[in-house]
Amino acid sequence: MKKMLIVSLVAVASCSAYASRESSEPIKVIEPVMGLDAAKVELGKTLWFEPRLSASNTISCNSCHNVATGGVDNLPTSIGHKWAVGGINSPTVLNSDLNFVQFWNGRAKDLQEQAAGPIENPIEMAFSHELAIGTLKSIPQYRQWFKEATEKKSSQLPKSRMRLRHLRKRFAHQTQSLISG
Ligand code: HEC
Repeated sequence: MKKMLIVSLVAVASCSAYASRESSEPIKVIEPVMGLDAAKVELGKTLWFEPRLSASNTISCNSCHNVATGGVDNLPTSIGHKWAVGGINSPTVLNSDLNFVQFWNGRAKDLQEQAAGPIENPIEMAFSHELAIGTLKSIPQYRQWFKEATEKKSSQLPKSRMRLRHLRKRFAHQTQSLISG
């Protein structure tokens, strides 16, 4: 009995010592973003790897922000549409939700605003938002996924109701979930 009491006291003391040491660490553990909707993140992930959102049908977000290699392409500057060599390095997308602005020069205020850029950038995906939305609307499975992610009701999202803002939000959800821990 006495032994058990001593063991418990030592356990409590070492837990609180660990907690106080952790709180004084200069670098804190990054907590995952809470409350993200799984269906929205899943759809965002699918779009992240979707090359049909580019003019050549070969480039996706993952081409330059490979989530298997730290969210970057490991090149000095990125290669985009028709092998165009961009003028700037692609930053990692891991933890980018925690940036107070997006892009090296901070020209986008958040991930949703940033997500409007790559599809229409002529040296990245070189497509247009209209064509990208049109492509997604033409695929019944995407209509169903958008419907499930936006309204949580059955069946497919009516074609007329798929908008660029839905697409931007899904990219933002996917990027928010990319936390390195
Ligand atoms: C051809 C390469 C390429 C593709 C494709 C691409 N990006 Fe990027 N991305 C870049 C480059 C280069 C930058 C930096 C641009 C700048 O700062 O001016 C960037 C910046 C970003 C940032 C800002 C990160 C930060 O720390 O500021 C995010 C987020 C991002 N991209 C997400 C996306 C998403 C989502 C897609 C797909 C819809 C995408 N990217 C497609 C090359 C690419």
